[in-house]
Amino acid sequence: MSEPQRLPRPKAGLLDIAAYVGGKSTVEGVAEPIKLSSNENALGCSPLARTAYLAAADQLHLYPDGHCTALRQAVSDRFKLEQDRLIFTAGSDEVFDLLCQAYLEPGDNAVQGEYGFLAYRIAIRAAQGIVRFAPEPNRRIDVDLLLAEVDERTRIVFLANPANPTGTWINRDDVRRLHAALPGDVILVLDGAYAEFCDDPDYEDGLELARSAGNIVVTRTFSKLHGLAALRVGWAYAPTAIIDALDRIRSPFNVNAPAQAAALAALDDEAFIADSLAHVATWRRWMAQQLGGLGLETWPSAANFVLARFPAESHRSAKAAEAFLAARGILVRGVAGYGLPDSLRISIGLEDQNRAVIAALAEFLKG
Ligand SMILES: Cc1ncc(COP(=O)(O)O)c(C=O)c1O
Repeated sequence: MSEPQRLPRPKAGLLDIAAYVGGKSTVEGVAEPIKLSSNENALGCSPLARTAYLAAADQLHLYPDGHCTALRQAVSDRFKLEQDRLIFTAGSDEVFDLLCQAYLEPGDNAVQGEYGFLAYRIAIRAAQGIVRFAPEPNRRIDVDLLLAEVDERTRIVFLANPANPTGTWINRDDVRRLHAALPGDVILVLDGAYAEFCDDPDYEDGLELARSAGNIVVTRTFSKLHGLAALRVGWAYAPTAIIDALDRIRSPFNVNAPAQAAALAALDDEAFIADSLAHVATWRRWMAQQLGGLGLETWPSAANFVLARFPAESHRSAKAAEAFLAARGILVRGVAGYGLPDSLRISIGLEDQNRAVIAALAEFLKG
């Protein structure tokens, strides 16, 4: 009798992970759709970053600086952070993966809000950890409910502040209260992918709090404010012991050379940064007002997008709206995968794009 064929098998639980599905970027028959599905920077990227990126093309035969020396120096100077407490990664997503690999043993858990960013749950499960979801009443993180999920097997708490896809945020006091109540061996990840867009004076990005904490990891990205999503550059600020653990397992050349060059230039492009912030502040307000005027429910957003809910009474579903917009070449993000099937997330675009999505939604709701 011949032996049954032996085939490679992924580790337990891996095939139960739902793969990340990004915002749509193409529509059949439309050459250049209006893409408001991935929270990218409507203004593009810094012209200085683009020039630096192109200049890096002359050195493509060389391995990148695996220590990100120049970028490390620049981030350290700008944010007044110790250089040895920084790690640079291929997008901030990579930090979540590294943290879960380094700190979760099978059966450990990590806690997040019920609508928390999808990348967390994938990273947790890939490390054979268990995801514990805390309810988010009115689509907002509630510190007490988050803490109620923490138990003796909790190793990490993920908090995006402001959050994706809700756009909501919690203030300084709440973040500090959350941290103060966590055991010292539980890592609090403060994901600041949208931190710069929050203009609430009671908000804090966590860097100050992290300075004196042994268990806070603050993550940031060049994908949103700096418009470098394609290049995949992120960084984290953490205690040296955590940086040391992550550095041991990261890929040695995880941030490529053109990406490092562009990020370095972007960091100093004050004009582009100011324009991006002003643009989001203006059009986020306008978008929320317009959506409200159409009878859709919105939440105050501190990010570069707005979440809109189609009330049951409107008898018009978010899914139908998404399809209606796509048929007109406008891509927004359905968020059923986040447990929000009645809502759409709309990134802030250029003026004509914002006006186009509102006009199309008005037509849809009238029809
Ligand atoms: C809350 C949140 N965190 C992190 C990221 C990851 O950003 P990146 O990997 O591009 O740095 C995103 C991207 O959409 C996000 O929404």
